[in-house]
Amino acid sequence: MAAKIISGAEVAKQIREELKKEVEEMKAKKGVSPGLVTILVGENPASVSYVTAKQKTSKELGFYSIQDNQPADISEAALLALIDKYNKDPQIHGILVQLPVPKHINETKVLYAIDPAKDVDGFHPVNVGKLMIGEADYLPCTPAGIQELLVRSGVETKGAELVVVGRSNIVGKPIANIMLQKQKGANSTVTIVHTGTPRDKIIDHCRRADILVVAAGVAKYVKADWVKTGAAVIDVGVNRIGMSESGKAILAGDVDFENVKEVAGLITPVPGGVGPMTITMLMKNTVKAAKLAAGL
Ligand code: GUN
Repeated sequence: MAAKIISGAEVAKQIREELKKEVEEMKAKKGVSPGLVTILVGENPASVSYVTAKQKTSKELGFYSIQDNQPADISEAALLALIDKYNKDPQIHGILVQLPVPKHINETKVLYAIDPAKDVDGFHPVNVGKLMIGEADYLPCTPAGIQELLVRSGVETKGAELVVVGRSNIVGKPIANIMLQKQKGANSTVTIVHTGTPRDKIIDHCRRADILVVAAGVAKYVKADWVKTGAAVIDVGVNRIGMSESGKAILAGDVDFENVKEVAGLITPVPGGVGPMTITMLMKNTVKAAKLAAGL
Protein backbone atom coordinates (compact mmCIF):
# COMPACT_ATOMS: atom_id res chain seq x y z
CA MET A 1 0.00 0.00 0.00
CA ALA A 2 1.27 3.48 -0.82
CA ALA A 3 2.41 5.66 2.08
CA LYS A 4 0.56 8.64 3.44
CA ILE A 5 2.39 11.73 2.24
CA ILE A 6 2.99 14.17 5.10
CA SER A 7 2.55 17.71 3.84
CA GLY A 8 5.02 19.84 5.75
CA ALA A 9 3.54 22.81 3.96
CA GLU A 10 0.09 22.11 5.50
CA VAL A 11 1.42 21.53 9.03
CA ALA A 12 3.61 24.63 8.72
CA LYS A 13 0.56 26.68 7.72
CA GLN A 14 -1.30 25.57 10.86
CA ILE A 15 1.62 26.52 13.10
CA ARG A 16 2.04 29.88 11.36
CA GLU A 17 -1.61 30.69 12.05
CA GLU A 18 -0.97 29.92 15.74
CA LEU A 19 2.14 32.11 15.73
CA LYS A 20 0.37 34.99 14.01
CA LYS A 21 -2.11 35.12 16.89
CA GLU A 22 0.72 35.08 19.43
CA VAL A 23 2.42 37.99 17.64
CA GLU A 24 -0.82 40.00 17.63
CA GLU A 25 -1.28 39.35 21.37
CA MET A 26 2.29 40.43 22.09
CA LYS A 27 1.82 43.64 20.16
CA ALA A 28 -1.41 44.37 22.02
CA LYS A 29 0.01 43.55 25.48
CA LYS A 30 3.55 44.92 25.27
CA GLY A 31 3.72 46.90 22.03
CA VAL A 32 6.56 44.63 20.93
CA SER A 33 7.03 42.84 17.58
CA PRO A 34 9.44 39.92 17.32
CA GLY A 35 12.61 41.19 15.61
CA LEU A 36 14.65 38.95 13.34
CA VAL A 37 17.81 39.71 11.37
CA THR A 38 19.02 37.28 8.72
CA ILE A 39 22.60 37.87 7.67
CA LEU A 40 23.68 36.55 4.28
CA VAL A 41 27.34 36.58 3.30
CA GLY A 42 27.87 36.28 -0.45
CA GLU A 43 25.38 35.05 -3.02
CA ASN A 44 25.23 31.26 -2.83
CA PRO A 45 21.98 30.58 -4.78
CA ALA A 46 20.59 28.05 -2.28
CA SER A 47 21.34 30.41 0.63
CA VAL A 48 19.73 33.34 -1.20
CA SER A 49 16.54 31.36 -1.69
CA TYR A 50 16.45 30.13 1.95
CA VAL A 51 17.02 33.62 3.35
CA THR A 52 14.42 35.15 1.02
CA ALA A 53 11.86 32.59 2.21
CA LYS A 54 12.71 33.28 5.87
CA GLN A 55 12.28 37.03 5.36
CA LYS A 56 9.00 36.60 3.49
CA THR A 57 7.52 34.43 6.25
CA SER A 58 8.69 36.74 9.03
CA LYS A 59 6.99 39.69 7.33
CA GLU A 60 3.78 37.71 6.84
CA LEU A 61 3.72 37.03 10.58
CA GLY A 62 4.11 40.70 11.45
CA PHE A 63 7.74 40.61 12.60
CA TYR A 64 10.16 43.50 12.54
CA SER A 65 12.65 41.94 10.15
CA ILE A 66 15.92 42.93 8.55
CA GLN A 67 17.72 41.25 5.68
CA ASP A 68 21.41 42.16 6.00
CA ASN A 69 23.37 41.22 2.86
CA GLN A 70 27.15 41.32 3.11
CA PRO A 71 29.71 40.82 0.33
CA ALA A 72 31.47 37.45 0.08
CA ASP A 73 34.79 39.12 0.91
CA ILE A 74 33.68 40.72 4.19
CA SER A 75 36.40 40.17 6.78
CA GLU A 76 35.79 37.89 9.72
CA ALA A 77 36.34 40.81 12.11
CA ALA A 78 33.74 42.93 10.30
CA LEU A 79 31.19 40.11 10.41
CA LEU A 80 31.81 39.59 14.14
CA ALA A 81 31.37 43.33 14.72
CA LEU A 82 28.09 43.25 12.78
CA ILE A 83 26.82 40.39 14.95
CA ASP A 84 27.79 42.35 18.04
CA LYS A 85 25.79 45.33 16.79
CA TYR A 86 22.67 43.15 16.58
CA ASN A 87 23.44 41.52 19.95
CA LYS A 88 23.08 45.01 21.43
CA ASP A 89 20.00 46.05 19.42
CA PRO A 90 16.91 45.77 21.66
CA GLN A 91 14.57 45.60 18.64
CA ILE A 92 16.28 42.42 17.45
CA HIS A 93 15.39 39.21 19.32
CA GLY A 94 16.75 36.67 16.85
CA ILE A 95 19.98 36.63 14.81
CA LEU A 96 20.58 34.15 12.03
CA VAL A 97 23.76 33.95 9.97
CA GLN A 98 22.99 31.79 6.96
CA LEU A 99 25.45 28.91 6.65
CA PRO A 100 27.76 28.07 5.04
CA VAL A 101 29.90 31.19 5.32
CA PRO A 102 32.86 31.69 2.91
CA LYS A 103 36.00 29.67 3.70
CA HIS A 104 38.06 32.61 5.02
CA ILE A 105 35.56 33.02 7.89
CA ASN A 106 35.67 30.64 10.85
CA GLU A 107 32.11 29.32 11.23
CA THR A 108 32.65 28.32 14.86
CA LYS A 109 33.73 31.86 15.78
CA VAL A 110 30.59 33.22 14.08
CA LEU A 111 28.30 30.86 15.98
CA TYR A 112 30.05 31.64 19.29
CA ALA A 113 29.64 35.39 18.68
CA ILE A 114 25.82 35.31 18.68
CA ASP A 115 24.26 36.05 22.07
CA PRO A 116 22.77 32.65 23.16
CA ALA A 117 19.53 34.48 24.08
CA LYS A 118 19.21 35.60 20.43
CA ASP A 119 20.46 32.34 18.91
CA VAL A 120 17.19 31.33 17.23
CA ASP A 121 19.09 28.74 15.15
CA GLY A 122 20.02 26.90 18.35
CA PHE A 123 23.64 26.49 17.17
CA HIS A 124 25.52 28.28 19.98
CA PRO A 125 27.34 25.77 22.23
CA VAL A 126 25.29 26.96 25.23
CA ASN A 127 22.09 26.02 23.40
CA VAL A 128 23.59 22.78 22.06
CA GLY A 129 24.53 21.87 25.65
CA LYS A 130 21.07 22.76 26.97
CA LEU A 131 19.53 20.54 24.32
CA MET A 132 21.78 17.66 25.36
CA ILE A 133 20.49 17.83 28.96
CA GLY A 134 16.85 18.30 27.98
CA GLU A 135 16.74 22.01 28.96
CA ALA A 136 16.67 23.67 25.52
CA ASP A 137 15.28 27.19 25.06
CA TYR A 138 15.72 27.01 21.29
CA LEU A 139 15.73 23.74 19.40
CA PRO A 140 17.58 23.87 16.06
CA CYS A 141 14.97 24.55 13.41
CA THR A 142 15.17 21.56 11.06
CA PRO A 143 15.22 18.92 13.82
CA ALA A 144 12.46 20.77 15.69
CA GLY A 145 10.39 20.73 12.50
CA ILE A 146 10.94 16.99 12.10
CA GLN A 147 9.77 16.29 15.64
CA GLU A 148 6.72 18.50 15.14
CA LEU A 149 5.85 16.67 11.90
CA LEU A 150 6.10 13.29 13.60
CA VAL A 151 3.98 14.37 16.56
CA ARG A 152 1.32 16.16 14.52
CA SER A 153 1.11 13.14 12.19
CA GLY A 154 0.37 10.87 15.16
CA VAL A 155 3.58 8.81 14.92
CA GLU A 156 4.36 6.95 18.17
CA THR A 157 7.88 8.00 19.12
CA LYS A 158 8.14 6.41 22.57
CA GLY A 159 10.17 3.21 22.30
CA ALA A 160 10.36 3.51 18.50
CA GLU A 161 13.53 2.43 16.72
CA LEU A 162 14.65 5.72 15.21
CA VAL A 163 17.55 5.64 12.79
CA VAL A 164 19.23 8.85 11.60
CA VAL A 165 21.33 8.80 8.44
CA GLY A 166 23.96 11.55 8.74
CA ARG A 167 25.68 13.19 11.72
CA SER A 168 25.79 16.88 10.83
CA ASN A 169 25.67 19.50 13.58
CA ILE A 170 22.61 21.06 11.90
CA VAL A 171 20.43 17.95 11.55
CA GLY A 172 21.83 14.50 12.42
CA LYS A 173 23.29 15.11 15.88
CA PRO A 174 20.51 17.40 17.15
CA ILE A 175 17.59 15.26 15.92
CA ALA A 176 19.20 12.25 17.60
CA ASN A 177 19.52 14.26 20.83
CA ILE A 178 15.97 15.58 20.70
CA MET A 179 14.44 12.18 20.08
CA LEU A 180 16.32 10.38 22.83
CA GLN A 181 15.16 12.78 25.57
CA LYS A 182 12.78 11.34 28.13
CA GLN A 183 10.06 13.74 26.97
CA LYS A 184 6.73 13.70 25.16
CA GLY A 185 7.14 13.36 21.41
CA ALA A 186 10.55 11.73 21.91
CA ASN A 187 11.79 8.84 24.13
CA SER A 188 12.92 6.83 21.09
CA THR A 189 15.72 4.28 20.78
CA VAL A 190 18.16 6.19 18.63
CA THR A 191 20.90 5.07 16.25
CA ILE A 192 23.00 7.32 14.01
CA VAL A 193 24.65 5.90 10.91
CA HIS A 194 27.17 7.99 9.00
CA THR A 195 30.04 7.99 6.50
CA GLY A 196 32.11 5.86 8.91
CA THR A 197 29.46 3.12 8.98
CA PRO A 198 30.01 0.32 6.42
CA ARG A 199 27.34 0.42 3.71
CA ASP A 200 25.95 -3.04 4.53
CA LYS A 201 25.55 -1.97 8.17
CA ILE A 202 23.82 1.27 7.12
CA ILE A 203 21.30 -0.80 5.20
CA ASP A 204 20.81 -3.22 8.15
CA HIS A 205 20.13 -0.34 10.55
CA CYS A 206 17.75 1.40 8.13
CA ARG A 207 15.79 -1.82 7.71
CA ARG A 208 14.95 -2.01 11.42
CA ALA A 209 13.84 1.63 11.70
CA ASP A 210 10.27 2.46 12.70
CA ILE A 211 11.23 6.08 12.05
CA LEU A 212 13.92 6.82 9.48
CA VAL A 213 15.36 10.34 9.29
CA VAL A 214 17.58 10.84 6.28
CA ALA A 215 20.03 13.74 6.09
CA ALA A 216 22.79 12.20 4.02
CA GLY A 217 23.25 14.92 1.41
CA VAL A 218 23.10 12.40 -1.45
CA ALA A 219 20.17 12.45 -3.89
CA LYS A 220 17.90 9.37 -3.72
CA TYR A 221 20.36 7.59 -1.39
CA VAL A 222 17.85 5.48 0.56
CA LYS A 223 16.26 2.74 -1.55
CA ALA A 224 12.92 0.98 -1.13
CA ASP A 225 14.48 -2.31 0.04
CA TRP A 226 16.21 -0.47 2.94
CA VAL A 227 12.85 0.54 4.42
CA LYS A 228 10.63 -1.49 6.78
CA THR A 229 7.01 -1.83 5.70
CA GLY A 230 4.97 0.91 7.38
CA ALA A 231 7.95 2.97 8.60
CA ALA A 232 7.75 6.77 8.90
CA VAL A 233 10.36 8.23 6.53
CA ILE A 234 11.50 11.83 6.96
CA ASP A 235 13.56 13.13 4.07
CA VAL A 236 15.72 16.13 4.95
CA GLY A 237 17.68 16.21 1.67
CA VAL A 238 17.44 19.05 -0.81
CA ASN A 239 19.53 18.21 -3.87
CA ARG A 240 19.49 20.19 -7.11
CA ILE A 241 19.45 17.47 -9.77
CA GLY A 242 18.79 19.60 -12.84
CA MET A 243 17.12 22.65 -14.27
CA SER A 244 13.65 22.87 -15.81
CA GLU A 245 13.10 24.58 -19.18
CA SER A 246 11.82 27.66 -17.35
CA GLY A 247 15.12 27.83 -15.41
CA LYS A 248 13.81 26.51 -12.08
CA ALA A 249 15.94 24.07 -10.09
CA ILE A 250 14.65 20.49 -10.07
CA LEU A 251 14.93 19.15 -6.53
CA ALA A 252 15.23 15.62 -5.15
CA GLY A 253 15.49 14.43 -1.58
CA ASP A 254 17.89 11.90 -0.07
CA VAL A 255 15.21 9.21 -0.38
CA ASP A 256 14.19 7.45 -3.60
CA PHE A 257 10.68 8.84 -3.08
CA GLU A 258 8.85 7.15 -5.98
CA ASN A 259 9.82 3.65 -4.83
CA VAL A 260 10.06 4.17 -1.06
CA LYS A 261 6.50 5.56 -0.90
CA GLU A 262 5.25 2.11 -1.94
CA VAL A 263 6.78 0.56 1.22
CA ALA A 264 6.69 3.27 3.91
CA GLY A 265 3.66 4.10 6.07
CA LEU A 266 4.35 7.83 6.08
CA ILE A 267 6.77 9.85 4.00
CA THR A 268 7.68 13.51 3.53
CA PRO A 269 8.02 14.85 -0.03
CA VAL A 270 10.78 17.11 -1.37
CA PRO A 271 9.96 19.92 -1.79
CA GLY A 272 7.03 20.58 0.56
CA GLY A 273 8.07 18.33 3.46
CA VAL A 274 10.68 19.31 6.02
CA GLY A 275 11.64 22.61 4.29
CA PRO A 276 8.56 24.67 5.20
CA MET A 277 8.78 23.33 8.76
CA THR A 278 12.37 24.56 9.18
CA ILE A 279 11.34 28.12 8.41
CA THR A 280 8.31 27.88 10.67
CA MET A 281 10.39 26.66 13.61
CA LEU A 282 12.70 29.65 13.11
CA MET A 283 9.64 31.88 13.47
CA LYS A 284 8.57 29.95 16.57
CA ASN A 285 12.01 30.40 18.16
CA THR A 286 11.98 34.13 17.35
CA VAL A 287 8.55 34.58 18.94
CA LYS A 288 9.87 32.74 22.00
CA ALA A 289 13.00 34.94 22.12
CA ALA A 290 10.86 38.08 21.93
CA LYS A 291 8.54 36.80 24.67
CA LEU A 292 11.47 35.94 26.96
CA ALA A 293 12.98 39.39 26.35
CA ALA A 294 9.60 41.04 27.11
CA GLY A 295 9.13 38.98 30.28
CA LEU A 296 6.05 37.19 28.87
N1 GUN B 1 22.10 26.44 6.29
C1 GUN B 1 21.38 25.31 6.09
N2 GUN B 1 20.47 25.15 7.09
C2 GUN B 1 20.63 26.19 7.92
C3 GUN B 1 19.97 26.59 9.11
O1 GUN B 1 19.06 25.92 9.63
N3 GUN B 1 20.40 27.75 9.67
C4 GUN B 1 21.42 28.48 9.14
N4 GUN B 1 21.79 29.59 9.78
N5 GUN B 1 22.05 28.14 8.04
C5 GUN B 1 21.65 27.00 7.43
